[in-house]
Amino acid sequence: MSAQFAIIVGSGFDAFAGGGESHEVATRFGQPSAPIQRVTFDEQLVYVLPRHGDKHTLPPHVINYRANLLALKELGVEAVIALNTVGVVSDKRLSGELAVPDQIIDYTWGRAHSIYDGEQAEFAHIEFTLPFSASVREALLAAARAAGVDCYDGGVYAATQGPRLETAAEVDRLERDGADYVGMTGMPEASLARELGIDYACLSLIVNRAAGRGQKPIHEDVESSTLTAKIQAMQVLKEFFRSR
Ligand code: HPA
Repeated sequence: MSAQFAIIVGSGFDAFAGGGESHEVATRFGQPSAPIQRVTFDEQLVYVLPRHGDKHTLPPHVINYRANLLALKELGVEAVIALNTVGVVSDKRLSGELAVPDQIIDYTWGRAHSIYDGEQAEFAHIEFTLPFSASVREALLAAARAAGVDCYDGGVYAATQGPRLETAAEVDRLERDGADYVGMTGMPEASLARELGIDYACLSLIVNRAAGRGQKPIHEDVESSTLTAKIQAMQVLKEFFRSR
């Protein structure tokens, strides 16, 4: 695949900071979270956008998802790997591991979630039956296998509003709804990518048991799991771009 890739990075991926050309892109929806870096990742040129801003000041409900996706589109990006952290809802999975979800349920509200805002001549009802790109998902899973990193294939990502974490009862509801993971940024990022014709898939870092599920306080769980998941995610990405 020779598509132009971007990585939208979530919390704490400092390894990506600095280096590379910086692109300031203004869109009709305003500024993206930060200037977009063009970096060499295992000999491939890849755009990198820190979702929460370069100083990590933008909480999930404040991020200008429309500007982020449109800025990438304007740079010629055809495919996105979205790194995000999630809590694990179902007991089938463990914190400290990775997942490539295959479905989403959107519980967010009040976010500017569509490129169609009545200003265009036309709008479209995009198909979103399968919210993630099959080819990017498959390539991520193949890279994980090649790198020898355990990575769950599939599962339902529940996108919550944040920035607070959920209550135990909310997580019970997510589980009844069929969710496996819970995070705060998967929507409207995934559907905006689809509206713009960008292939999109998540590489999710499972960093905690969701509220009411684990024995430890959530922040302790996050602290003890994040580093392992991050190292594994970097191994997968290295393999992903090495084999391109
Ligand atoms: N809930 C929502 N978002 C998250 C969580 C969680 O438990 N962990 C990491 N992102």
